[in-house]
Amino acid sequence: MAELKLAFIGFGNVAREFARILLSRRDNLAETYRLNCRTVGIATGHHGIVLSASRSASGIDLNAALSIVESGGTLTQLENVTEVKHCLEFINHCDADIIFETTPLSPLDGEPAATYIRHALQRGVHVVTANKGPIACAYQELKTLAQAHNVAFRFEGTVMDGLPVFNLYEYCLNGAQITGIVGVVNSTTNAILSGMESGLTFEQGLLEAQRLGIAEANADYDIDGWDAAVKMVALANVLLDARLHPREISPQGIRSLQQADVEKARQRQATIRLIGRATRSANGIQIRVAPEEVAAHSLFGTLQGTSNALTLLTDLMGEISLLEENPGITQTAYALLSDLLRIWQE
Ligand SMILES: NC(=O)c1ccc[n+]([C@@H]2O[C@H](COP(=O)([O-])OP(=O)(O)OC[C@H]3O[C@@H](n4cnc5c(N)ncnc54)[C@H](OP(=O)(O)O)[C@@H]3O)[C@@H](O)[C@H]2O)c1
Repeated sequence: MAELKLAFIGFGNVAREFARILLSRRDNLAETYRLNCRTVGIATGHHGIVLSASRSASGIDLNAALSIVESGGTLTQLENVTEVKHCLEFINHCDADIIFETTPLSPLDGEPAATYIRHALQRGVHVVTANKGPIACAYQELKTLAQAHNVAFRFEGTVMDGLPVFNLYEYCLNGAQITGIVGVVNSTTNAILSGMESGLTFEQGLLEAQRLGIAEANADYDIDGWDAAVKMVALANVLLDARLHPREISPQGIRSLQQADVEKARQRQATIRLIGRATRSANGIQIRVAPEEVAAHSLFGTLQGTSNALTLLTDLMGEISLLEENPGITQTAYALLSDLLRIWQE
């Protein structure tokens, strides 16, 4: 049986759900993949930063870490751990094979995630992130760094959770080119808009998204279109080889939409959805994120709740659409598992 040493930077909704999957799949990973995962460190913002003590052969007890963080404690309460004060020191000493980075989104600079990822890659550690900020702000640099240090940098969970968008492009569309991207890629605004169609208020729709753990830590990033804009930039940077930065985008969110706007759209057999578009022209790649009226029976128009959909325009495969029905936190956490196994198998 082989072993992978895992470390977490960020132990919030996504990472904790991933931890629960690792615990529940322990036997399956051993039987199917001959793989044992040992947690060697966990770093958070306010719940402590700890490394597994070197004498602990079993690593950090994830069940205990989950209960401590979920009851508001600090990870220094764990047995057999040593505390470190800073994340960069954590990266230097954690001795992990893979670091899972899931700190909150900072749309205009991708920090501190980009710094953490850069540091880990330079130390020869594989990195998996669910944080779209670094892909939108520093993709080319981080990809080149990973190649130079012969390690993997994977980020399937950054857009549409575990649905294979980047993997589809990397592994299944050999020889085809993507020429444009259109999508509803933000779950929170979709939950709010479809909720308003069924009589909820804007605030009730937002509360539901927060209850499900799918809203950003700062929900203004969802409502004002920044989450969608950063996702569209990340998609364009990876799938269209764009060299864009979120600072070049001016998203229009859904904050000013009223119940009356939703009702007017309904009378025209339409719905309002926050649509992201990446298009190629002679001037390069342009990105637009704004609420649009779409036909009520169209793919985007029928999206309810947290559902997302993405259409890739290609030269040889026409339009390929991906639909994710009402994803929750498990789907994002699955992306981390899928990236882990991809690294393990390659
Ligand atoms: N939630 C989703 O459905 C979803 C879907 C796709 C992608 N994502 C992305 O995944 C990432 C994580 O989302 P989440 O919902 O898990 O967020 P979250 O619940 O807010 O958790 C964030 C974690 O990061 C820690 N943290 C904050 N600042 C830090 C810092 N400077 N250094 C080290 N750790 C720090 C927090 O620690 P404390 O709590 O102790 O402060 C917490 O453990 C985000 O980038 C988000 O955009 C989320």
